[in-house]
Amino acid sequence: ERAVDLAGLRVVVSAGGTREPLDPVRFLGNRSSGRQGVAVALAAADRGATVVLVAAHVDEGVLAEASAHSRITLEHAGTAAELQSAVTRAAAAADVVVMAAAVADFRADAVSPGKLTKESTGGEGLVLHLVETDDIVAGLVRDRRPDQTIVGFAAETPAEGETLLDRARSKASRKGVDLLAANEVGWERGFESTQNTLLIVDGTGTVVGEGSGTKRVVADVLWDCVANTRDEVNRE
Ligand code: C5P
Repeated sequence: ERAVDLAGLRVVVSAGGTREPLDPVRFLGNRSSGRQGVAVALAAADRGATVVLVAAHVDEGVLAEASAHSRITLEHAGTAAELQSAVTRAAAAADVVVMAAAVADFRADAVSPGKLTKESTGGEGLVLHLVETDDIVAGLVRDRRPDQTIVGFAAETPAEGETLLDRARSKASRKGVDLLAANEVGWERGFESTQNTLLIVDGTGTVVGEGSGTKRVVADVLWDCVANTRDEVNRE
């Protein structure tokens, strides 16, 4: 049995993939299953934390255990904008925010009020104009309280000659997060799998944790890192 070492900690976790509408029946989405984020929420709750889980699109069945947990409050968000308002509101009363959701980087600048059809595009194919969504983590970092811990995730496909660590370090410093959990994704790894490998760096790019196994196992490694970081900050 694990200790309830996170008792009293107020946590917000986002999970799953956002969906950005194109028209009333179509969206731009991604392959996030939500499994890793939900495992992070469950691990925290089992260790005594009070958790607000903001779920974007999550695969069938993945939310069952979390929605029945007495210390998890579940909120749903469809789009990046909805996720942003739910997370930002919940973050105001949180000690730790973990952004595990796969948030769309782009959305349609105008959502078609009617279904896009071949007829309506006149045989010319379809050009979508996309605009950037807000970076939610950037906003959390900007508005943070000094005692708050902000954790980002990075799903990376490192290029030739580049390592996951290189990518994790540059993303941690660019985003200004306290901790960044990086994992490799690709056609065959990361998203739909029940297993994961996480590399966790702090804001200076130092490796503070590494874990491989089920998404629950690596979630516990992440919470060990969060607990260590907060202990160090409190001792300073
Ligand atoms: O830059 P990238 O999208 O890879 O960064 C991933 C991290 O940033 C994740 O923690 C994700 O939840 C967060 N993110 C965000 N807002 C966005 C896009 C990503 O907070 N619009």
